[in-house]
Amino acid sequence: MTDITDIIDKLFYGNSVTDDELAVIISCDKYDSVLFEKADAVRQRVYGKEVYIRGLIEISSYCKNNCYYCGIRAGNKDAERYRLTPDEILSCCRKGHELGFRTFVLQGGEDDAFNDEIICSIVRRIKSEFSECAVTLSLGEKSYESFAAYRKAGADRYLLRHETACEEHYRKLHPADMDLKNRKKCLFDLKSLGFQTGAGFMVGSPFQTVEDFVSDIRFLEELKPEMIGIGPFIHHCGTPFADWPDGSVALTLRLLAILRLMFPEVLLPATTALGTLLPDGRERGFKAGANVVMPNLSPVSVRKKYSLYENKICTGEEAAECLNCLKNRIRSAGFEMSFSRGDYKNIQQRCT
Ligand code: 5AD
Ligand code: FES
Repeated sequence: MTDITDIIDKLFYGNSVTDDELAVIISCDKYDSVLFEKADAVRQRVYGKEVYIRGLIEISSYCKNNCYYCGIRAGNKDAERYRLTPDEILSCCRKGHELGFRTFVLQGGEDDAFNDEIICSIVRRIKSEFSECAVTLSLGEKSYESFAAYRKAGADRYLLRHETACEEHYRKLHPADMDLKNRKKCLFDLKSLGFQTGAGFMVGSPFQTVEDFVSDIRFLEELKPEMIGIGPFIHHCGTPFADWPDGSVALTLRLLAILRLMFPEVLLPATTALGTLLPDGRERGFKAGANVVMPNLSPVSVRKKYSLYENKICTGEEAAECLNCLKNRIRSAGFEMSFSRGDYKNIQQRCT
């Protein structure tokens, strides 16, 4: 069998690896330090020491879906629901802009009260007031026409984790009215409309196997997203997965490093979920190849209500406090917080 360091070298030099080799490297914890070092070198080559910040605004905790893992699923009758008004969203952007943010991410459950007209009008207002800022939407699955309308209104990026690329696994995480094929179609629609597109998955979600990770990576190779969001699964008591163990931080870090090696130019967040399971989880994420963080700009009064999983960090802190805290964390890990828009760098394209 191929030596593990040979597999790491293949990834480092951009050579292809077999499914078996991928499975081996995902499962082995003996070479993590080598993997992290190489991932860091690749990140430094493309993005230097910069870590990009995105201001996250959680616009609605209403959701019509019933994903088995998520705390704001429609079936969780104990979830507290809220919806920000367009004016509240704009004022979050203003506060963020003053703090130096140049990217705003509007995220929410699938909430029909935010119809296309309302979303487009919010995007237009943000773009006209802050023309130098990037607007990212993360509002779930929509029709091609809706995505096209958001793009026309000025949205630059869209985040939609595929959650798992394996049909069988998808069925175990979602009720019958949700469909992996449609989710994948949405992602290809977003790419074709010129969005910088983010896909991704949870690490350690119930029933997940190593083969599922291999399928996730193969799907990402096909999609070629500009961003990949991965974070550990964390149980939530208002879901059918309340008693499942949380995902592993170590495995999340290893997957971050593998993704950095396989997708050198991708924007890779150190997620809040990672920081929730381990106090220095995000710092470790940066050292393993992550180069984005998404501090929360939502009003503190609603933070606890956007509860996808338990014990989420930063629900009591003002945006300015998180920003300061993160600046220190990024610096302590040996990196620099960047206030730029942090667009995707397509190095290959630039060289041709
Ligand atoms: N633990 C970790 N991540 C979760 N998400 C939803 N529920 C959980 C959970 N219990 C992730 C999903 C979703 C993103 C917004 O949050 O991957 O796409
Ligand atoms: Fe929010 Fe540290 S990032 S308190």
